[in-house]
Amino acid sequence: MDNLISLVNKIQRACTALGDHGEASALPTLWDSLPAIAVVGGQSSGKSSVLESVVGKDFLPRGSGIVTRRPLVLQLHKLDEGSREYAEFLHLPKKRFTDFAAVRKEIADETDRETGRSKQISSVPIHLSIYSPNVVNLTLIDLPGLTKVAVEGQPDSIVQDIENMVRSFIEKPNCLILAVSPANQDLATSDAVKISREVDPTGERTFGVLTKIDLMDKGTDASEILEGKAYRLKFPWVGVVNRSQADINKNVDMIAARRREREYFATTPEYKHLANRMGSEHLAKMLSKHLEVVIKSRIPGLQSLINKTIAELEAELSRLGKPIATDAGGKLYSIMEICRLFDQIYKEHLDGVRPGGEKV
Ligand code: GDP
Ligand code: NA
Ligand code: MG
Repeated sequence: MDNLISLVNKIQRACTALGDHGEASALPTLWDSLPAIAVVGGQSSGKSSVLESVVGKDFLPRGSGIVTRRPLVLQLHKLDEGSREYAEFLHLPKKRFTDFAAVRKEIADETDRETGRSKQISSVPIHLSIYSPNVVNLTLIDLPGLTKVAVEGQPDSIVQDIENMVRSFIEKPNCLILAVSPANQDLATSDAVKISREVDPTGERTFGVLTKIDLMDKGTDASEILEGKAYRLKFPWVGVVNRSQADINKNVDMIAARRREREYFATTPEYKHLANRMGSEHLAKMLSKHLEVVIKSRIPGLQSLINKTIAELEAELSRLGKPIATDAGGKLYSIMEICRLFDQIYKEHLDGVRPGGEKV
């Protein structure tokens, strides 16, 4: 199954590469049907922090105010134990980042390149892949936070622009929604709950994440929500404790932060009984498992789409005239190869045989 998820990742990347150049009309449809997980919620609710904890790496710009101003499509690829981890941007092919502080800087710089150093937003995604033995195979999308008012330097339309952008990602039936709400605000006012309920009324693909549990007023706790008594979702709520701004300023590392989060749930009397289904590591495992289920259930649909795409790409290639030495042709060709590979794996999967040939 890991194989299938990583192939889906490859196709997604190939689609984005091609989409940037707009050569093939068939591909956006393919892209739309591939599963991913998007993070939604109000500004500063902790979305980028949740993504970082799920990945187990420091690499995203975080902080108060509007920090995330372009969608970030993040693909995690699991490597074998002992492999060296690295990151790669689609807009900087062949450059391997091993310093994750440099990754964070490149995200900020690439955001500015598109939007200027203003508080403007852009719906053009930044595409980042992380290869590591310490991740699960997942595609995650970090999105700008929903706001209620424009601030200095932003047009009045920004509130609606962000909402439209977020909705365009999460309304796709194949998008799992990580709905992030801070525990120190009333859940009834949560932007995440509101917009996810709008696009997914039955909650089939919404995962509720409660952040900032450590910041709740003394004398209050989140157990009613986490037990599903206050606001019931189809999937159980997951509570997390991310790093505070002070932790970030002090460079508290991810390993220490995760250990502290585990201890927090295991030792706080109100959450002790829920500890085994709380925290970022549990969230990552739950998401990966669910993504596999979605991909499996989608295989027949993907299959017919891929067939159509191969046929259309072949028509496109022959129209352009083979062999094609241009960049555009090269890209088309590699996508065809990926589609074929996917097709082959799918057939092997149907036969109940893994690519290695052994029976499942
Ligand atoms: P985003 O705007 O939704 O992406 O939110 P960020 O991830 O950038 O977080 C906003 C601020 O809240 C940062 O200063 C984080 O350190 C802080 N923060 C996020 N989650 C938590 C949490 O669970 N506990 C505490 N104490 N601070 C958090
Ligand atoms: Na923020
Ligand atoms: Mg953010």
